Amino acid sequence: MAKEREKKMFVGFAWNCAAELKFLITALLFVCSVATVLQFLPSRFSLSSSSTSSDFLRSCLPKITLSNSSTTTIATAAPPPLPPPPTPSPPDEVVENGIIKRNFNPHGDAAYNFVLMSAYRGGLNTFAVMGLSSKPLHVFGKPSYQCEWVPHNATTSTTTTTTTVGHKILPDWGYGRVYTTVVINCTFPSPVGHGGGKLLLHASTNGGGDRNSNTTDTIEALFESPGSLNPSLFASPPKYDYLYCGSSLYGDLSPQRIREWLAYHVRLFGERSHFVIHDAGGAHPEVMEVLKPWMEKGFVTLHDIREQERFDGYYHNQFLIVNDCLHRYRFDAKWMFFFDVDEFIFVPRKRSSIKSVTDSLSGYTQFTIEQMTMSSKLCLSEDTGKTSRKWGFEKLVYRDVKRGIRRDRKYAVQPRNVFATGVHMSQNFAGKTTYKTEGRIKYFHYHGTIAERHEPCRQLVNTTDITVDGIPYVLDTTMRGITGLVKRFEQKTIGHRLQRTRQ
Ligand SMILES: *[C@@H]1O[C@H](CO)[C@@H](O)[C@H](O)[C@H]1NC(C)=O
Ligand SMILES: *[C@@H]1O[C@H](CO)[C@@H](O)[C@H](O)[C@H]1NC(C)=O
Ligand SMILES: *[C@@H]1O[C@H](CO)[C@@H](O)[C@H](O)[C@H]1NC(C)=O
Ligand SMILES: *[C@@H]1O[C@H](CO)[C@@H](O)[C@H](O)[C@H]1NC(C)=O
Ligand SMILES: *[C@@H]1O[C@H](CO)[C@@H](O)[C@H](O)[C@H]1NC(C)=O
Repeated sequence: MAKEREKKMFVGFAWNCAAELKFLITALLFVCSVATVLQFLPSRFSLSSSSTSSDFLRSCLPKITLSNSSTTTIATAAPPPLPPPPTPSPPDEVVENGIIKRNFNPHGDAAYNFVLMSAYRGGLNTFAVMGLSSKPLHVFGKPSYQCEWVPHNATTSTTTTTTTVGHKILPDWGYGRVYTTVVINCTFPSPVGHGGGKLLLHASTNGGGDRNSNTTDTIEALFESPGSLNPSLFASPPKYDYLYCGSSLYGDLSPQRIREWLAYHVRLFGERSHFVIHDAGGAHPEVMEVLKPWMEKGFVTLHDIREQERFDGYYHNQFLIVNDCLHRYRFDAKWMFFFDVDEFIFVPRKRSSIKSVTDSLSGYTQFTIEQMTMSSKLCLSEDTGKTSRKWGFEKLVYRDVKRGIRRDRKYAVQPRNVFATGVHMSQNFAGKTTYKTEGRIKYFHYHGTIAERHEPCRQLVNTTDITVDGIPYVLDTTMRGITGLVKRFEQKTIGHRLQRTRQ
């Protein structure tokens, strides 16, 4: 199979070359394929199914120059200039006692030392810098960071720059892939930036990638023009009571499920709330339609983070995104919530409102929220024939009650006390966390419904409990019971414009 594929590609490849290089092709093919290319077939060819002749030339040339006989004319005929060859290291040599001293020649960089996403102030003397960095560098090496504040007029006067150690936080619990998320806390001994200036981050590998070299990259992380700093921000009461920091949205999401989620949570969190949504490719045109009315009302801000896809981190770099959100909006909200768009926060209405819950927890920097796991396919037989008109949390009414399972929790924080955050909780903050929130607040999780464009109801049942595939479920109509209120709230707030939304 693989061999055949290679052969096919090889033919296509040669054909491409022939189209442009005409008679040169014979010489080229002869030199390249016969002399050297054969051993490179698998890696070269998987990359170059759509190669142009110039790629072909490039792949041959290093070999050609090694056997520099009749091929110099071909080298000069190659249109694009080649990247400079790496500095050659001395050839292997035989040293005393007949020992052969071998050499190792590094070429290129596989993962960046630092990919800057953002930097924000956390006060008059403190900043957070968010980025990605090569994961093996952090796991096996000891990269270090220095922060430098350069005043706006440093070059024209005697004003000096201030330097401090950058404390790195790795908030992703070892979940990274090629890249891991890094938050660098730069705290200077005294206030900086009155009069403008810039924050430089010096990122040093300390020999992590090559013991012989300590590469330091200097990155301009933040620029402040003179007069742009507003110190009162850090002490003013926040604009919002509640801010939702969404994780990376990806995939073919159901516009109807997003519609339901938004109406439900705008109603729950109220007038003084805001929702920050991150589009990693999930906000396709139909999803945009349901976001628009809420964006127009000022409830939703959408960030396009698709470019992060270039860098392979855990789940569309969600750890980077939530930390950016934390620091970007840190002074805008009293409480920040972190959960997903297939999850619905619920406060038992008769007893309290979201405000009474958060007020009762105001002595804590963080509280976590217990999960109620809902079936993504069991519905009521009384809904037969009506399921397509019902909302997701209206019709999916069976709760998984399997015991002894550790279920993920979600959380909320008072962001001014938080320095870095995760997906299920923050581990870098000042103050206390409480997990004892049962009976006060919980969330319903409809896993597997959000990226499903078909009707979720697969099995219609009429009992109060049922076991399916070994999992016991009980009927739980808590969410179904408030669907009417949510539908009316949506109509009252944005009218009927989303009425035709599809699953
Ligand atoms: C290749 O060319 C270099 C300089 O152009 C020359 O010194 C060397 O001897 C040549 N090698 C062969 C194998 O002809
Ligand atoms: C950096 O860390 C210090 C001490 O842990 C903290 O007081 C400060 O708020 C942090 N800065 C930011 C921007 O998170
Ligand atoms: C540099 O900036 C500081 C603070 O804004 C100011 O006091 C000082 O006069 C400036 N110096 C020059 C040479 O512009
Ligand atoms: C690497 O360079 C940085 C910045 O100059 C320095 O702080 C660090 O100590 C150096 N590390 C080593 C191992 O020399
Ligand atoms: C419940 O469903 C079963 C089979 O699906 C049916 O035989 C029974 O009549 C139903 N009971 C009610 C009360 O609808």
